[in-house]
Amino acid sequence: MFIRGRRLRQNQNIRNLVEETSISVNDLIMPIFLIEGKNKSEKIDSMPGIYRKTLDKQLEDIKSAAKLGINAIIIFPAIKEKLKDPFGKEALNKKGLVPKAIKAIKKAFPKMLIITDVALDPYNSDGHDGILKDGEILNDKTVEILCRQACIHAEFGADIVAPSDMMDGRVVKIRQALDRKGFHNTAIMSYAAKFASSLYGPFREALNSEPKSGDKKSYQINPKNYREAIKEILLDEAEGADLLIVKPASFYLDVIRTSSEASVLPIVAYQVSGEYSMIKAAAKNGYIDNDSVMKESLESMKRAGATIIITYFALEMARLLKKN
Ligand code: PBG
Repeated sequence: MFIRGRRLRQNQNIRNLVEETSISVNDLIMPIFLIEGKNKSEKIDSMPGIYRKTLDKQLEDIKSAAKLGINAIIIFPAIKEKLKDPFGKEALNKKGLVPKAIKAIKKAFPKMLIITDVALDPYNSDGHDGILKDGEILNDKTVEILCRQACIHAEFGADIVAPSDMMDGRVVKIRQALDRKGFHNTAIMSYAAKFASSLYGPFREALNSEPKSGDKKSYQINPKNYREAIKEILLDEAEGADLLIVKPASFYLDVIRTSSEASVLPIVAYQVSGEYSMIKAAAKNGYIDNDSVMKESLESMKRAGATIIITYFALEMARLLKKN
C-alpha cells in the first residue's frame, strides 16, 4: 500500500480546498520613485515598466493603485546631484522632495498609508547610508541624523517610517525621538535583515545612489549568514520595531521562514529591484511567462511566512488579482 497524494490534486475544487497560501491586494506595498518638477516621467532602463516621476504624475499612479485596493506606498526620492553633500543635509530639508510629497499625497488620498525610507544614501554625495569619515561609516552620528529625518517625515504625515540604513541601535533611538515629539502613532518598519546583496543594482541606477567608494558590507549583512540575520530580526523586535523587513526576498526565503517563527511581528518581504528586473528580462525574451512567474514569486514569499510584500509588481499584481 502506498499513499495516493494525487487524490488531493485531482480537480480544481479539491485543489482550492487544500490550498495553503493566498495573496491579496491588502498584502502589497507599492514603491514609487519621485523627482522634482512637473509633468515629467523618466524611464528606468533596468526596470521595465517602472518610472521616475514628478509628484503630479505619481498622484495619478497612486489613484490607480487606490482604485485597485492598494493600501500602502513607499516613497524613494531621486535627489539632484547638486543637492547632495557628505552629510546628506538635504535629508533634513523640510521643503525637500519627500516632505512635500507626503503632504500632497495625504491631502489627495487621506487613507493611503505612506511609508518613507529613512537613510542617507539618496542625499549623500558618497552614496552611503550613513556619514563617511576616514573610510568609516559613523554609526552614532548617522543615527542622530536619521532620528531627525524620521521626525520630519512623521511631522509631514508619514504613517510608517522605514529605516533602511542598518546602523546599530537606530530603531530604539528613532522610537524615542518620535515619542518625544508626540508621534506615538507613527510606526517603525525596520529593514531588520538587510543583506549586502548584488540585487540592488537597478534601484541604485534609478536613484543614482551607487556608493562612490567601497561597498556596504560594514553595515549590511553578509549574504552567506543566516544566524546573523535572525539576530538582527530579534534585536529590532526588542528595540521596538512594529514591522520587520527581510530584504531581498527570493534568495532569502529561509530567513523569512525563520523570522516569521522567531518573531511575533508582521514580516515584510522586500522583492527588490534586481528580483523584479530578472523576471522582466526573462519574460521579455519569452523565456518565462511574466504573470505566472510574478504570481509564483510573490506567493513563495507568503508561503515562507511573509505577511506583507513590497514589490515593484504591486500595480501589475493588483490588476491580475482583480481580473481573476
Ligand atoms: C537605501 C535602499 C536601498 C534599497 C532600498 N532602500 C538600496 C541600498 O541599500 O543600496 C534597495 C531596493 C531595491 O533594490 O529595490 N537605503
